[in-house]
Amino acid sequence: MRIDIITVLPELLKSPFEASILKRAIEKNLVEVHLHNLRDYSSGNYKQVDDYQFGGGAGMVLMVEPIDKCISQLKSERDYDEVIYMTPDGDTLNQGTSNEISLKKNLIILCGHYKGVDQRVRDLFVTREISIGDYVLSGGELAAAVLCDAIIRLLPGVLNDETSALTDTFQDNLLAPPVYTRPSNYKGTKVPDILLSGDFPKIEKWREEKALERTQEKRPDLLK
Ligand code: ADE
Repeated sequence: MRIDIITVLPELLKSPFEASILKRAIEKNLVEVHLHNLRDYSSGNYKQVDDYQFGGGAGMVLMVEPIDKCISQLKSERDYDEVIYMTPDGDTLNQGTSNEISLKKNLIILCGHYKGVDQRVRDLFVTREISIGDYVLSGGELAAAVLCDAIIRLLPGVLNDETSALTDTFQDNLLAPPVYTRPSNYKGTKVPDILLSGDFPKIEKWREEKALERTQEKRPDLLK
């Protein structure tokens, strides 16, 4: 997979890819992530990428021309499966969408800023609009980092234990069951006996029951 991220704040997006699982995925060549500074595609001496909105009103809008230039440059080099725009009015990200996007090969992710992008960017270039939740961030960068993390960890070979993404919360529209590690008795609070029994079919059944119980309690909407 290759991900090209277009942003006015590339420095905000560096560190998520320089640590832990995402870093390892890049080192293992399972994914390439390229950051593109929108300012490098602006014309004129002032490197302008945003402007006042027509009709008046507070807040700047990212201009269509630099975004067009950047996307056209990338598209001249390879085909893209999706041009994703991160925006609070997009479709809310969930595990199903993450699974689906993780199967794609080449992605462009565009981060909005200020009041967003000129509507013509959305009409002409964007194939998919994604929100990470009903709240407004100062820009799309942190949302793009969340999306990248959610999809990169699903790529084959990224997680050490390949099955572990399959048992994640949400993978069957269920929350994950409780987990425990040593010590088996912490200040009198004990790990459920069943987990120490070595009876794996029984343990599996217990986990399924607990997952269902937890989902009923915390997220009954997932069971509908
Ligand atoms: N940009 C600003 N807020 C956002 C959100 N909630 N999701 C995606 N992109 C955003």
